[in-house]
Amino acid sequence: LNEKGQHRAAQRLLVVANRLPVSAIREGDSWDLRLSPGGLVSALLGVKQNFETRWIGWAGINVPDEKGRISLTEALALKGCVPVFLDDDTVDQYYNGYCNNVLWPLFHYIGLPQEDRLAATRSMDSQFNAYNHANQLFAQVVFSQYQEGDVVWCHDYHLMCLPEFLKEMDCHMKVGWFLHTPFPSSEIYRTLPLRSELLKAVLTADLIGFHTYDYARHFVSACTRILGLEGTPDGVEDHGKLTRVAAFPIGIDPERFIQALETDQVKFHIKELRRFFAGRKVMLGVDRLDMIKGIPQKLLAFEMFLEKHPEWREKVLLVQIAVPTRTDVPEYQRLTSQVHEIVGRINGRFGSVTFVPIHHLDRSLAFHELCALYASTDVALVTSLRDGMNLVSYEYVACQNSKKNQGVLVLSEFAGAAQSLGAGAILVNPWNIREMYGAIEGALTMPENERNERQRHNFTHVTTHTAQAWADTFVSELNDTIVEAELRTLR
Ligand code: G6P
Repeated sequence: LNEKGQHRAAQRLLVVANRLPVSAIREGDSWDLRLSPGGLVSALLGVKQNFETRWIGWAGINVPDEKGRISLTEALALKGCVPVFLDDDTVDQYYNGYCNNVLWPLFHYIGLPQEDRLAATRSMDSQFNAYNHANQLFAQVVFSQYQEGDVVWCHDYHLMCLPEFLKEMDCHMKVGWFLHTPFPSSEIYRTLPLRSELLKAVLTADLIGFHTYDYARHFVSACTRILGLEGTPDGVEDHGKLTRVAAFPIGIDPERFIQALETDQVKFHIKELRRFFAGRKVMLGVDRLDMIKGIPQKLLAFEMFLEKHPEWREKVLLVQIAVPTRTDVPEYQRLTSQVHEIVGRINGRFGSVTFVPIHHLDRSLAFHELCALYASTDVALVTSLRDGMNLVSYEYVACQNSKKNQGVLVLSEFAGAAQSLGAGAILVNPWNIREMYGAIEGALTMPENERNERQRHNFTHVTTHTAQAWADTFVSELNDTIVEAELRTLR
């Protein structure tokens, strides 16, 4: 409401992310729009109120012909989405190359094999040009949608140059940038050949956000050490011009999960799963099949647990959902084979004619199936080697409250979520397999009162720190930052 008590028009928010919340698959003459994977999408779907939101991004499909473009644009418009079309070469060099073979491993401290590193170094310039080109294409689409007063919120490592292009088009545009991954220590970041260009481009935004205070601190020290700028408690200062940098921990839309648990479809599914798992404890992993998720480490810990605790064999099983992702990048192809090999070995060693210890699926599940699994399992294993936040841990907690026997979250200390759910979860160092198998044992044998107490703590956090609250805080801080900057220029 405004000062006169009238309803104020909701602020227009242009959310710009590499990936739209839906990805398009051609079906004859029409398009099948499927929910995209990843934490960014699951969080942003929870931002519905208070803004009139329009999404701008890539629909996961390379440039179709003219007719295809028109029909896809129309189909996406019904979902509030505006597509950015990228051609095959740009997708290869920008998305597979610079984003997922250079920035992603660097930001997550993933060392690539020497030959991949050299190949990446050789093609770095052409990949960076493609990255710039893609960011320009995004800027053009944003500009075509932009109306004065809109807030433009750019997301993630794919779009670090976007704030600069937007400000060049209109220096009054309100631009925020948010990173959904960790930001590395400046010692690691400085190894990136074009490190200064990216920092300078991001610094043109009015507000820069990270999931945790540590990532924000790393960013500020990269700016001070590499660009020689001044770091202040509020951000980065360049000759009197301050760019605000702060932590805004993301959340989910817990009601979406809590309400789903009340539907007949999910209830039916839970009953089916309970019948199927009867008499056994079930542990759950839900990850994109990505090297940052620590899936091989999780499997090795489970293998060691079964080895050291024969009394648990055939009494516990692991359901691992591994959603394929970035399948054109060699490192992901190697990971897929590695995971399959370990799963095969463990099932061969500890399975029987009537029992399989690991149920591994290389695909995503429908939402109702996922909710049922979250609700009916005893332990969730989130073992990321490094992860911006990890919202699977939030989703698991959201689905545990409705039942008597509440499950336990085993959570990597290297996921951003460890800073918010650490007190309720069992924290582990995923590189320490012995520690992880100890945590599995601890989770499976934890007394009910302790489980419920830990869940109570986490549930309170998940239901109060929602995606909506995250977006409201970020956008209102962005508006305030701009007002403050204007006041400063008037003084
Ligand atoms: C992470 C990134 C997102 C990305 C998602 C899925 O959550 O932060 O930006 O969309 O992974 O990855 P993909 O490459 O399939 O979009």
